[in-house]
Amino acid sequence: MIVTIDGPAGSGKSTVARLLAELLQVQFLDTGAMYRGIALAVVRSDESETDAPAVGRIAENTLINFQGDAICIGDEDVSEEIRTAEVTAVSSVIATNPVVRNCLVQLQRNIGNEGSLVTEGRDQGSVVFPNAEFKFFLTASVDARARRRHREMVAKGSKLKLATVRKQLRQRDQRDENREVAPMKPAEDAQVIDTSDLSIAEVVQKLAAIVTG
Ligand code: DC
Repeated sequence: MIVTIDGPAGSGKSTVARLLAELLQVQFLDTGAMYRGIALAVVRSDESETDAPAVGRIAENTLINFQGDAICIGDEDVSEEIRTAEVTAVSSVIATNPVVRNCLVQLQRNIGNEGSLVTEGRDQGSVVFPNAEFKFFLTASVDARARRRHREMVAKGSKLKLATVRKQLRQRDQRDENREVAPMKPAEDAQVIDTSDLSIAEVVQKLAAIVTG
């Protein structure tokens, strides 16, 4: 069984997907972490994130894999390093690159072939797993998403202002929604759920009720 959960940053999809996977006792796949892994490899290289052929080559030569919950490049655990502001910004730029997307879509489908999965990202229901049994698209107002993201960042010691977080979120939304390849959008048969006024537990309950019938 494949369950896809797509949506913009701050919609709650990562936490919801992780908890739903636990509840259903199936594997969880964080595809954003895979794009961030490639972004980190680009940041570490001498290449610019806008040099499409160079970024494509890096994607083809970077061994992204999961070891337990950790995202790794080869055998190096990069789970922490992929969460910096720089990698976050670069990830939405390199996610517009068709070679990058092609590499990661193949990898995601290979993981899906191994067994049941709750997978989250931007294109999981629309492109990667068009035949998924259950497809969800989580949304929330920009203000609600910015508040959530800001709270998370402050908890980790960041001093960024709410207004800055909101602006960065909008920039990333615009790049993710307007790119030519696999833009972020709900699959036609996805159930769209607005999480602005729902707690994480309420969203998980709602999705679990639908999946378990
Ligand atoms: O979900 P996230 O914030 O970790 O994602 C990081 C970036 O990767 C995001 O700006 C868009 C991109 N992404 C994508 O294009 N397709 C996916 N399936 C997942 C993430």
